[in-house]
Amino acid sequence: MTFIRVPKTWSISENKVTSADAYFNRRRFLKTLLGAGIGASIMPIMGCVDSSSSSSSSSSSPPTLEETLDLPTIKGFNTNPAFASVDRAIADDKIAGSYNNFYEFGGGKNIWPNAQNLPTENWKVEVTGLVKNPQTFDLDDFKRKFTIQERIYRFRCVEAWSMVLPWVGFPMKELIAAVEPRSNVKFVRFTSFYDPKITTGPGLIFGSLPWPYREGLTIEEMNNELAFFAIGIYGKELPKQHGAPIRMVIPWKYGFKGAKSIVKIEFMDTQPRTYWNTIMPSEYDFEANVNPNKPHPRWSQAEERFISSSLNWELKKTLPYNGYGKYVANLYS
Ligand code: MTE
Repeated sequence: MTFIRVPKTWSISENKVTSADAYFNRRRFLKTLLGAGIGASIMPIMGCVDSSSSSSSSSSSPPTLEETLDLPTIKGFNTNPAFASVDRAIADDKIAGSYNNFYEFGGGKNIWPNAQNLPTENWKVEVTGLVKNPQTFDLDDFKRKFTIQERIYRFRCVEAWSMVLPWVGFPMKELIAAVEPRSNVKFVRFTSFYDPKITTGPGLIFGSLPWPYREGLTIEEMNNELAFFAIGIYGKELPKQHGAPIRMVIPWKYGFKGAKSIVKIEFMDTQPRTYWNTIMPSEYDFEANVNPNKPHPRWSQAEERFISSSLNWELKKTLPYNGYGKYVANLYS
């Protein structure tokens, strides 16, 4: 499939935006972990690295990319007029569905085949902690209780690539209203699916990292108009590689804040530890707002590689808060 092969033009010169993909996924990632003391226990098994070969359990022929995207349409939603478009083209669904970060299923971008092992049937999300009304929701509960809508949002990864994606889901603040947080709630922690028998990538370093993947927001951030739970994309149910069946979408923050395949949401009075912030706090701060003026320690954030109809990206200026300052700047004043 040629569209998932990274073209030569992708390897941009070091003096522009340093490719963080290389850092995240390969030897430099491991070296950095080792430097931070996190990976000491993995040294003896380094020869076993092969994130591309992990667990394809099915003996029948694996689905094609198109089949993984060919999911049921979500019925009865409207596009929210406040978020009906942005001034950039929506990404092609096959590009977006084959260029993913989902470390539970591999260290590269091409995790969509392994992600098909994610078991999404009878999915439940436990909402608990400092709330008056703790509840466990299934997907039908979300569709029945909350205002399912489409929102076209900019998406900006900390690795300095970006897309525009048409999510279908519901505002996080509707969930807050349903569970009624107690007055001492300050933060909310979101936990992704984790089962070491299934979430088998990236091979050797798996056991050394702070799984499950967790993210956190302040309660004010979660209550912001923009904060969104996606249960779909392109009008259909969420493909597994995008974090089925429900994931966070926080468009003014770097993409790593948007945990995928959520199983638990906890309302807390202290700031939770989160996945990337635990691994490398100096590089992945808890707040992680998109900011062109605050470089990542190893690459600039002033520009981004915008991806839409092919992986031939276009360099664009990064916008403060990813272009959503009018909704969120007041949270940080
Ligand atoms: N959630 C989990 N559980 N595991 C991950 O590895 N990666 C994050 C985020 N959520 C990640 C995750 C990062 S770094 C990004 S950029 C986005 O998911 C990518 O979302 P996408 O693959 O749908 O574009």
